Amino acid sequence: MSENSRPLPPPPHPSGAQPPALPAELVPQHVAVVMDGNGRWANAQGLPRTEGHRVGEATLMDVVAGAVELGVKELSAYAFSTENWKRSPSEVRFIMGFTRTVLRQQRDDLNDWGVQVRWVGRTPRLWKSVLRELHTAEELTKNNTTMTLNMCINYGGRAEIADAARAMAMDVREGRLKAESITEKTLAKYLYSPTMRDVDLLIRTGGEQRTSNFLMWESAYAELYFSDIAWPDFDRRHLWKACQAYARRDRRFGGAKDAVIDQSE
Ligand code: FPP
Repeated sequence: MSENSRPLPPPPHPSGAQPPALPAELVPQHVAVVMDGNGRWANAQGLPRTEGHRVGEATLMDVVAGAVELGVKELSAYAFSTENWKRSPSEVRFIMGFTRTVLRQQRDDLNDWGVQVRWVGRTPRLWKSVLRELHTAEELTKNNTTMTLNMCINYGGRAEIADAARAMAMDVREGRLKAESITEKTLAKYLYSPTMRDVDLLIRTGGEQRTSNFLMWESAYAELYFSDIAWPDFDRRHLWKACQAYARRDRRFGGAKDAVIDQSE
């Protein structure tokens, strides 16, 4: 998208399905997705695990399109965790190379749709060529405002909090920060993406029911939604279903309302 042009709407889902009519205040502003089940999906069809990741690229683009259509403001995708280095060297190599290709292939469409791409993660071990593609996509899309897509690559929630604690400790040592003035807000400023909103809805595909170290700080009050559908079979219609379920949830953030009216009031 050039500086003065307007974003293009993403292409509709091939089925013609349209997003549900949710009141704007019930649309989750920030949706985080754990894109799980790729390997099992592929193996179940007699294919190598990496074929699941390959098909997962189209799912990610469809989910981004559906999130834009619904009016979601921020989408975070868990593409590679700090723990994923434990996988076989060939799978790690595939995911790194594939991530690089996906970023290169998809950045123009994302840009046309007005999506701002941000990298969220840590530098150590991450392939330099992947970092370069991330920075190129970030630079290309930096003025876009339709939706932010956080690509969480070499990301771990505990690592993020530990990295923030280390950076704060160093600032205290250098006299830039007073230890006694540290609050939750201070720590939030030291996270990888200080402008990231709190996660409203965290979706995990692939049937497992855990959050696996994803956006631990940011999703403290996220509504959780687990789908049995493997990521390669997931699409924007499932995202919308999750958002409809979210819209029915009662979010109290630790507060409470007495359902029985107190007569003494
Ligand atoms: C989890 O499934 C998936 C990953 C670790 C990789 C995520 C990558 C994609 C969805 C491909 C899209 C590309 C980019 C760059 C976003 P898994 O391998 O853990 O599956 P399993 O639980 O069945 O083993």
